[in-house]
Amino acid sequence: MSNIVILGAQWGDEGKGKLVDLLADRFDYIVRYQGGHNAGHTIVIGSKKFVLRLVPSGILHPGKVAVIGNGLVVDPLALYEETGQLEAAGIDVQNQLRISNRAHIVLPTHRLVEKISETVPGQVAIGTTLRGMGPTYEDKAGRRGLRMADLLDRDHLEGALRTLIANHVTRARAFGVEDAINTDEIVARYTEAAERLRPLVCDTAYLLSDAMRAGKNLLFEGAQGTMLDLDHGTYPFVTSSSACAGGASTGTGVPPTKIDAVIGISKAYITRVGGGPFPTEALDGKGDLIRNRGHEFGSVTGRPRRCGWFDAPLLKYSATLNGFETMVVTKLDVLDELDEIPVCVGYKIDGVTTTEMPATVRELARAEPVYQILPGWQSITEGISDWDQLPEAARNYVLFLEDLTGVEAGCISTGPERTQTVRRAGSIFEKITA
Ligand code: GDP
Ligand code: IMO
Ligand code: MG
Repeated sequence: MSNIVILGAQWGDEGKGKLVDLLADRFDYIVRYQGGHNAGHTIVIGSKKFVLRLVPSGILHPGKVAVIGNGLVVDPLALYEETGQLEAAGIDVQNQLRISNRAHIVLPTHRLVEKISETVPGQVAIGTTLRGMGPTYEDKAGRRGLRMADLLDRDHLEGALRTLIANHVTRARAFGVEDAINTDEIVARYTEAAERLRPLVCDTAYLLSDAMRAGKNLLFEGAQGTMLDLDHGTYPFVTSSSACAGGASTGTGVPPTKIDAVIGISKAYITRVGGGPFPTEALDGKGDLIRNRGHEFGSVTGRPRRCGWFDAPLLKYSATLNGFETMVVTKLDVLDELDEIPVCVGYKIDGVTTTEMPATVRELARAEPVYQILPGWQSITEGISDWDQLPEAARNYVLFLEDLTGVEAGCISTGPERTQTVRRAGSIFEKITA
């Protein structure tokens, strides 16, 4: 029994929600460690579909404890809306959800500040989800943010809210960004939200430490993906948190020595939402085919996802940073119709071929992918759950990705549902999730 991190190996939306839901029955606590309601993790159970933003996907399993760690930024109003939907679906949120008292608070005026970078000419527009993530993490690093513990401090809250809101409005005005802000209303709504959330807030580092001492297992649920990590991703076209495996420790207070393994989730191709370089982007009809077959539209903003081919240098970089030896290859079924499938085996940058990820987006934008073309299988893999039942060309495609990246494909996903999953017998995946 062990503590495992599940994270996105690419630019997000790899199918983390499905895998967390699939594996949650083997764990006691499912813990988010970064991000906020910029995430959208989709879980399909029969005819029911859930899209979880802030709440860890494991909450759908009765009796499991879902933890929002200190590394998250929490919009109390968005959280309240999400917990309301879960309660309406019969989930015991009061007993199953716990929120760190050190998680930072997102205010409506964080979204106002975000308009500076996203809409003012001359700034670098990232194409964010406009959920106030970046500015909230800026306030955290700038040591002026508000945390859950402050939200619950009745004597302190109003003054702290007014000070931070005034700071945001002043900064926005300096860039010519104006919006109708009703400070009294924000204070009233956040004061009310605080009372509703109070029973769920605690020191989750102690909670998880006690749980581990009692022999419980933890599943860490990453949001976004490695290439959106603030330090290691395609900066500045990244999110503002630590999506890589290291974030599981700093974002929860669980020591790195207690984390036993990491599983990377990767699509059989790749997508990206928002701006930034994307060497293997398919701007032709095949990109459209993937988008339509894969329903590649953002689960938070509805934006069409940019689609492209599997990028081996990127995946290897991701495995290096996160230390995963096994990956889940999702959405294999989306490629079913293709007669041939390009796979990026390296980049040519300024005439030099490399398999390493460059540090600047300028270099990455100049990278020309070197492709190897594999034959497609042109038959239906959707729903297949047995490796031997996959068409030979599909098995060869997966084996090629393994060879190229040095990472085992211990599990393959062939549809959104739990049952639409191939688990490879004798794999590291099987061993660490047993
Ligand atoms: P996450 O953010 O990583 O949890 O991923 P999203 O939920 O944003 O996007 C993944 C989408 O693909 C969701 O709509 C899933 O239901 C769906 N999905 C997951 N695995 C598969 C798969 O193997 N095949 C197909 N066709 N859809 C999948
Ligand atoms: P899940 O967890 C895909 C992208 C945004 C933008 C950049 C910064 O569902 O995989 P932000 O609002 O975080 O400041 O935006 O990051 N982004 C995601 N892309 N999946 C996500 O989450 C994302 N969360 C943020 O599109 O490019
Ligand atoms: Mg998503």
